[in-house]
Parts: sequence; structure tokens; C-alpha cells
Amino acid sequence: MKIRTFCLIVISLLLPALSLHASDKIRKVIDFDSAWKFNLGDLPDAQNPSFKDANWRNLNLPHDWSIEGEFSEKNLSTPSGGALPGGIGWYRKSFTLSKNENDKSVFIDFDGVYRNSEVWINGKYLGKRPYGYSSFRYELTPYLNFGTKENVIAVKVDNSAQPNSRWYSGSGIYRNVWLVITNKISVDHWGTSITTSNVSAASAKVNILTKISNRSDKKQEATLTTTLLNPEGKVVAHSSVNKTVSANSTVEANQNLDIKKPSLWSLENPLLYKAVSTVEINNKASDSYETPFGIRYFDFDREKGFLLNGKQVKIKGVCDHHDLGSLGAAINTRAIERQLQLLKEMGCNGIRTSHNPPAPELLDLCDKLGFVVMDEAFDMWKMKKNEFDYHLDWDKWHKTDLQDMILRDRNHASIFIWSIGNEIPEQGDSTGTPIAKELCSIVRNLDKTRVITSAMNDMRENFLLKADVLDLVGFNYGEYRFSTFLKDFPGKKFICTESTSAIATRGSYDMPADTLRIWPLDQKSKSKMNDDFTCSAYDNCRVPWGSTHEATWKIMKKYDFLSGQFIWTGFDYIGEPTPYPWPAKSSYFGILDMCGFPKDAFYMYKSEWTNKPVLHILPHWNWNKGEVVDVWTYTNGDAVELFLNGKSLGMKKKAGDDIHLSWSVPFEAGTVKAIAYRNGKKYLEEEVNTAGKPVKMILSADRKTIHSDGKDLSFVTIKVVDENGITVPNADNLINFKIDGAGFITGVDNGNPISHESFKANNRKALNGMCLAIIQANTKPGKIHLTASSNGLMDATITIDVK
Ligand code: GAL
Repeated sequence: MKIRTFCLIVISLLLPALSLHASDKIRKVIDFDSAWKFNLGDLPDAQNPSFKDANWRNLNLPHDWSIEGEFSEKNLSTPSGGALPGGIGWYRKSFTLSKNENDKSVFIDFDGVYRNSEVWINGKYLGKRPYGYSSFRYELTPYLNFGTKENVIAVKVDNSAQPNSRWYSGSGIYRNVWLVITNKISVDHWGTSITTSNVSAASAKVNILTKISNRSDKKQEATLTTTLLNPEGKVVAHSSVNKTVSANSTVEANQNLDIKKPSLWSLENPLLYKAVSTVEINNKASDSYETPFGIRYFDFDREKGFLLNGKQVKIKGVCDHHDLGSLGAAINTRAIERQLQLLKEMGCNGIRTSHNPPAPELLDLCDKLGFVVMDEAFDMWKMKKNEFDYHLDWDKWHKTDLQDMILRDRNHASIFIWSIGNEIPEQGDSTGTPIAKELCSIVRNLDKTRVITSAMNDMRENFLLKADVLDLVGFNYGEYRFSTFLKDFPGKKFICTESTSAIATRGSYDMPADTLRIWPLDQKSKSKMNDDFTCSAYDNCRVPWGSTHEATWKIMKKYDFLSGQFIWTGFDYIGEPTPYPWPAKSSYFGILDMCGFPKDAFYMYKSEWTNKPVLHILPHWNWNKGEVVDVWTYTNGDAVELFLNGKSLGMKKKAGDDIHLSWSVPFEAGTVKAIAYRNGKKYLEEEVNTAGKPVKMILSADRKTIHSDGKDLSFVTIKVVDENGITVPNADNLINFKIDGAGFITGVDNGNPISHESFKANNRKALNGMCLAIIQANTKPGKIHLTASSNGLMDATITIDVK
């Protein structure tokens, strides 16, 4: 190794460690998730420090009590909200603070509480926050005890007035909580704003606005030093400025730094810089605060669509709600990371946080993994979509909630679009225009570097369009009108904020494959939908307002001016069980099901969106003798020859805008084999085999070694297979789990939208041959043994290392 390389590595290893150490000392950001007490139900006086909570349940956050409940059509959330219970819950946590901290400022940060949270410290009321998706902070300092005397924080969460959501919301302190301890003179909450300009390969200008807060009763002379570290952790620029901060007030510092030959943030290479803001008083460090940011430039062009760093990029995005399948709304960083990795593998490059501000961890991961994010604030404004939804809080809270979203999120490299709403009823009404103008000015006041849109579903009588308040015209659906956009909307720029709404059950197939099912049908023709509440996965089933995956993508890829789309949705989610009514309780819209198991459309996108080798055959090969089966292949080869039990069924070539190739094949048990060709050469080979009777299970983990941090997860897939290891495509065996060692089962699922089995159990039925167990690590290293057993099947065990 060259000496220079060696030095660079040493420096880059040391720098983050040093700054972490420094910030550890001066600013403490403490994970405040562990050791809470919880009571489901309202109780008088539970905010009082002396209240006896000894027999309350012990738990760690993030926590969602709804996901632990039982599905019922009678729950006030309704099937559209996931049919799980809401109610009122109380959380309490006792803690002590060292005497050394009694000259500090202490804050509690909630990343998100659904909803109507009220917080008390030592019996003192701190405030209420209705919106369940906002992050917020309270200062605790004046009410704290230091030394051995305990402090009690009490949080009341009220999700009893329902329905208040069109999808599953969850209930409780479902995101992380932090205790933040700073000196009296520090960088304020969300106190930095970093923007870049004049970005080229040669240089970039970085503007840093820093808000310094002085919580002491004395005027202070502060020195702010901002140091910029490049993606390798090397210092590339710094600047110091002196500021006088009056007692109990804040001051803003403006610094401009130049960076030579910047490493640009891109989707392929999401390189992040870091700004370290150090505040000194009399040459003594008072705070150290880190802000990751990216250097990139972009444009939404009327003709060319989206350009990132000067290069045309089609936004191949998905919308997602915040639930993480069987974990419910309780956020887990690894679960979000896994979702993003699966989407990345498919070639997806964009996320819409429908229809609310996301967990901050999602944005951190999008920065690191390389996604374009459309960060969305609201699903409604003043006019309701549900009786008890946010419209009731609109007047009092919308300004604060929108401001807080921008303040919290504005430094994320991944965010390119702010969305002020989704399918807002006021867009078709003159009252919408002044509200939209107000919202846009709130956003622009805090960030002028991203474009603003609203996701609009009705273009005929659209007041927001007429008033021309938005930077980007955001269309939901109506893809048949996209091709004439330039003509129909002179001077405007386009983003498809939501598309598709195709519906499918993983592993279910209705033939003929090329006949569309447009569901839900009207009341009279309801019987034509499937009795077993399935939707076909041939991409031949969609809602009336939507389109198939193929149809929208064909239009999207044809026109440069269509900057891209956010498909409804990446993953199935709890609630909105379209097209079926109860007993359906979760969605069919996902390209992946609630377990994160791909449906067939996943491979369609992968073949169109990536250069990775793709050849996928559908459906499975267990049918009745003589039945004519439609066999489809998705590939990024250009031709496929299909064989049944060794006999060629002919070679098909992709022509025109073909996305799949198909054959009608009279069923005969055995093997369907596909050989794909590319440029005349054999490219890939795949086969699907007829499965025999279920005999055993195969367990596989996405990660066999996980961290002993009490939070890390291993996702274990269980396949029910025949004696040759072939997945049995209709197997629905009930599988029981036994777990011992260094972890526990935190969720089980099979992706079946009509299953009412508990997500928090030690058993699960398979759906079409598969189910999932999510294993969570304890805080001590060791081994986890997970054994699956099922009547008539051989047991199977997997071992996971916790390190
Ligand atoms: C859209 C709406 C989404 C979801 C979707 C289902 O109109 O914005 O939230 O309801 O329909 O197709």
C-alpha cells in the first residue's frame, strides 16, 4: 500500500472517531428508547410523578400498540384504516441525570407519535402535538432533578377518535425518542441550513446558515467554526465567524465556503459531505454539531424531464406508506433499509413519502443509498377525508407542521421535491388557491432550492393549476393524458406524483393473462371478482382509476418530458384493501407484498430498469392436465425460447415496445424451461418445475449475522417444499416457530391480505408456499436458533449469530 493511501485511510478512520468523541462530550444525543412503562387505556393522574406504574407493562420504543391488537371490522379505524384497534395509551419513563448536567440545557426529541400526544415532565405540562407524523422537541431544563432524585416523563397518546386515516396509522410512540443535552450556548434545534450553488466538476459554493442559541441570562461572544469534511472524512474547507448572542435569544451566522473538485452526490454514487459546526466561548468548545449534506445540482426541464448533475434521469419511483408490514408503524432502521435495498435491486430510484413526513431514518438511508425523494406534508388541508382526520387541526397547526418538516429535512441530499399535499379536495375549489399560496411561501421561506408540487388527481377543474402556484405539475393517474402534456399545459413542467395502482396477490394467477380485470366492479357485478379474495399477478388486474404496470411504464419511457413517476405502491401496506371489502384488511397494490416478497411485476421492473441479468418465468407449474396455461417471461434479453419437458415451444423475439413474451401451453407436469438470448447469444436460462406434495421447509435468512444492539433484525423466509426442494405453489401449512438464544420473534406474516392471524405470534400459515419470521436481536451476543415445525412436515432450523 502506498504511504499516501495509508495516511488517508488512517485520517479517515480517525476523523469521524475524533469528532464523535468531541460531540459526545459537548453535545449528548442519547437514545431514549429503552425501559418505558406502558398502559393501554386512559387513567387519571398518570402524569403525576408519584403515580404508581409498577404493574404497567415494560417495553422499549419504538412501539405501536395497534399492531398487537385483533383485527375486527368493528374497530373504529375501519378496514380502510387496517381494522386494528386505536384508543388511548400512556407511556412513562423514569430517569436520573448526573449533578454535572445541572448547568446544561436538556431536551426531549420525539421523531413521531401517533397522535395527539401530550407530554409532562415531573408533572409539568409541556404541550400537545396533534399531527402524528411531525417530529418535535420539548425543553425539560427548568423542571428537572439532578443527582439521585428521579425524573418522570409521561406521555399520553390519544388515537381514540377514528376514523382519522385512509390507511393504517398505528398508535403510540412509534418512532425514536432522544434525550439531547447541550451547553447553554449551542447550535439551535434543526439549526443549520446547507445549500450549494455554482456546482460543477471544478468547484462548488457551499452556503451554511447556522442558528446559534444562547439559553443563558448573559450576553455571549461566540465563535462559530464550520468545517467541511469530504466523503473520505478529509477536511476540505473551514471558516470561523464571531457572533454576539444576546441573553435568551438566537443569532444567525452566514458562511460561504468554496470546494474544489467536489465529489458529486448521485444515484449511483451517493457521496456525502459533512459539516461540523463548532461553537466556542472564550476559546472553549461549547457545542459541536454535525450535518451531513450532498453536493449536486438538478433541474426539472420542460422538454428533458429531470436532470441530475446535468444528466437526464428518469425518476423510477414508488410511493409507500410508513408501516413496515408485521412490525406495524413501529420504525426499525434495518427494516427500512431492507425495503430500500429490495427497491434498489429492482432499479427503483425514487421514494414518495405518501402522504406525510417520514421517519428521519428513511431520509438518512435515501441519502446514503441514492434515491430521489419527494417529501410530502399532508393528505388533506381544511376539508376532511375522514371525520376525525387532520382537517380538525388544520387551522391551528398546519403552519407549524409544514415548517417543522422543512426545517428537519432541508439538508437531505436525497430530497428534490416538496409536496404540499395529496389529492387535496380544495384543488377543485377556489378556497384551495390561497391555501396553496400560503403553503408555498412557508416552504420557500425556509428552502428555495427544491421545487414544490401537490399531487393532483383531477385536472379538469383544477384551481391550483389555473393559479399557477406550483413549480411542478404533479399528476396522479390519468396516464392516457400524459403524451399530450406539453400541448395541454403550456409552459409547465411535469412529474407523475402517483401512478398505476395495479393490484395483485403474490403467486395468484387468473387466465386468460391478457384479459384485464378492472376492479372493484360496481355493486351489481361484484360477483365477478374472485371468491377467494385474490387478484391476479399477471399484471392484468387494476383499479378503475389506475393502469397496469406495463401501460404506464411504456408511456413514461417514451417521452423525455415526463420526468418520472411514483408507482402506487412499492410494498403492500395495512389498510385500504382495494378492491375487496372486509375480510380483506391490507392492500394489494404493492410490487412486493407485506413480507417484502416480490410479486411478478418486480421482475418486470428489474428487466426494464436495471442492467442486471433478468429472466423470470411465470406462473408456477402446478396445474391440471390439459389446462392451457399462459406462460410469460420478463427478461432484458431480446428473445426467449421456451421448452416443456425438453420440447421447444418456439422462440419469441421482443418487438416494438414489448415488455413481456408469452406462450399458451397445454399443461403437462414437469419442467418449463426458458432460454434467453441477447444479441444472438445465449444469455440466461431459468426453469419452473411441477412441485409434489409438501414434505419439508427451507429456512433462509437475509442476514445470518446481526448486531447485539437490541434492534437489529434478521428476516427469515420459510418455504414449504417437496422432496426435491421445489416450492409448493399453493401450500398453506400452518407453521409453528420455536426460538431460543440471543433474540426473539418480533413479527410473522405471509402477505395474505385477508389473513386475520396476529402479526405478533409464534406461528403463521404459509401463503402460496411462503411465510416470513422477523427475528430481533437482544442486547447480548450469542446465537439464535429458530426452528420451524408443521404437521406432516420435517422440522427445519436456522442459526443466526448475534455479535
Ligand atoms: C390514490 C391516493 C392514494 C391511494 C390510491 C389507491 O388516489 O392518492 O392514497 O388511495 O389512490 O389507488
